[in-house]
Amino acid sequence: MPRLLPYSSEKLLKLQVNSPDYKGLMTAEQAKEDFMRRIENYAKQYEPLDELEHESLSFIKVINAGRSFKVHQVRGHVQSRVVYFLMNIHLLPRSIYLTRHGQSEYNGMGRLGGDSPLTENGQKYAAALADFFEEEEVEGLRVWCSQKVRAAQTAQYLKPDFHTEYWKALDELDAGICEGLTYEDIQQRYPKQADDRAADKYHYRYPSGESYEDVVSRLEPVIMELERQANVLVVSHQAVLRCILAYFYDRSLPELPYIDIPLHSLVKLTPRAYHCDSTIYALDLETGQVEFIYFKRCKGA
Ligand code: G3H
Repeated sequence: MPRLLPYSSEKLLKLQVNSPDYKGLMTAEQAKEDFMRRIENYAKQYEPLDELEHESLSFIKVINAGRSFKVHQVRGHVQSRVVYFLMNIHLLPRSIYLTRHGQSEYNGMGRLGGDSPLTENGQKYAAALADFFEEEEVEGLRVWCSQKVRAAQTAQYLKPDFHTEYWKALDELDAGICEGLTYEDIQQRYPKQADDRAADKYHYRYPSGESYEDVVSRLEPVIMELERQANVLVVSHQAVLRCILAYFYDRSLPELPYIDIPLHSLVKLTPRAYHCDSTIYALDLETGQVEFIYFKRCKGA
């Protein structure tokens, strides 16, 4: 996949001028002067790390917000992951849109998982989603969809010029022996499983299936790729989107499995310097439009 271009010095200054430290508080010229003064002050206060002088220390130098890197004495898995992460994040403005698939036949029956197609209401949501993105005019939108029929059908009316990929990693949490059952069925057939899940929903793993913890781990490459990319629409499932949202909202692991993501709603995340803006839209079944519901500012990743 194409790597986003590194910043030029000019672009870097523009990003700084538009950062919340300056925007609306002073003119662009004053912001540039302040930023340059800030760098001079950092240079007075901090001692630069040097590969020869600090030969035994582990450090990573990120130069001009990722234009180049110096990686020194990096050892082990965690440090390597930090390098990989830093090499893939960027500060360019963009939005990430997250939606569950439209209502499926299994949703209509209260059954878990499966691979059923959309209901009539689900189809309405798919059509309204396409209209929403016609109006939103998002530059270079990429669509990432799970490999389930209901997700592919939800994305089916989007403009064909959006680049679309189908990720197995975006498939719903596998409920194992409980796939296709309702919550009442599970309570009756497997009461111990239901109790264990209620006691620790994040770590509970369905027999022959997955836990939320498993889903978080299979989503790591997806989240890393989201960090690398510009505008992306993710069409997936409730459990998967809870994991992605918990990352961007900076929610704790026990909270994660309870994040509310109703059907037929769309979350637009816009990462900012110190937080994440989140705008929620939902389908109005009467008008057939996806309409603005509310805006919140989250702590954010
Ligand atoms: O269909 C399954 C849901 O997406 C997972 O919901 O983890 O709250 O049971 P749950």
